[in-house]
Amino acid sequence: MPTDAFPMTAPAIATTLAGLPLRTPVLLAAGTAGTLTEMADALDLSRVGAVVTKSITRLPREGNPTWRILPVDAGMLNAIGLANVGMDAFIRDYAPRAASVPTTVVGSISGFSIEDFVAVAAAMNAVDAIPAVELNVSCPNVKHNTEFGSDPPLLAELVREVRAVLTRTRLFVKLSPIANGPLKLAEVARAAIEPSNSAPSGPNQRPGCDALCVANTMPAMAIDVETRRPRLANVTGGLSGPAIHPIAVKLVHDVYRTVARDSQTPIVGIGGVLKWHHAAEFILAGASAVQVGTGLFADPSCPVGIAKGLESWVRRQGAGNIRDLVGQLALPA
Ligand SMILES: Cc1cc2nc3c(=O)[nH]c(=O)nc-3n(C[C@H](O)[C@H](O)[C@H](O)COP(=O)(O)O)c2cc1C
Repeated sequence: MPTDAFPMTAPAIATTLAGLPLRTPVLLAAGTAGTLTEMADALDLSRVGAVVTKSITRLPREGNPTWRILPVDAGMLNAIGLANVGMDAFIRDYAPRAASVPTTVVGSISGFSIEDFVAVAAAMNAVDAIPAVELNVSCPNVKHNTEFGSDPPLLAELVREVRAVLTRTRLFVKLSPIANGPLKLAEVARAAIEPSNSAPSGPNQRPGCDALCVANTMPAMAIDVETRRPRLANVTGGLSGPAIHPIAVKLVHDVYRTVARDSQTPIVGIGGVLKWHHAAEFILAGASAVQVGTGLFADPSCPVGIAKGLESWVRRQGAGNIRDLVGQLALPA
């Protein structure tokens, strides 16, 4: 092993998320690391906390026409449109390989109806090597014409229905940032944590989700001022990367302090993590782990450097483990 290599087990940053052991708290974000192992050529997957799959829908999807991904100042704009192989091909061609992936695999799910989400969740629940699913609720519900992630009663119904088919798999819910403002997002987060007063179920005996992922891309657009056309074929898309990081830190801070801390629901911070200190900010704001998306496009091996930086930071802070620093933001008196 080269001397600068990150040790396979670094106790200071080894952590757990809803009881799921993670080698490091640095995860690869949905849709930015391929369907399952496509990043393996560029990044040693045994050195990340988990790979979140591309969001899988019940039926295969071609996604939006190009251009559907482009760089903008301080970030990236995408309107991929959930291009993916679909549930059947995922279960047939990818799921059997999940057990040989050298890190934890989290299955991301998208859908346009509750039935869509439930079908994919049930299929993933049958795969032993997928110990958690992550619901991407930033997609419109066809029937209600609203995003699951900005409609607390609809989200509560979705969580209840998905929870009912997960007999062994943890449930993470990835919130949309457009339910903005601390009260509104807290309301959405609460719907995911406490969807009903029904009896607790699932691996952690919770009625709702086991973890919240905060958050996703911000709705955005870019215009070519010479042609006066939108730069994305879809006209609008989602902004990711450095530009959204401070926004996501505040969302994590708000969700942690309003609902997650008291209900002991762990948070995964997502948005513009390119360096270790971005991840550390999320930890202090209340996240137990982070995901890296856009950072992989700039440097596919950045999660390893981020984990290294976190380990040094934990030591400098005099903490025994990164868990001791979760939510330890020093607020002015
Ligand atoms: C090209 C691209 C594709 C994405 N696809 C998905 C997806 O399929 N499902 C999902 O939940 N999020 C998807 N995302 C959002 C990322 O998982 C992440 O939430 C977002 O990019 C913010 O993190 P970042 O700033 O580190 O990129 C995608 C992002 C990008 C840039």
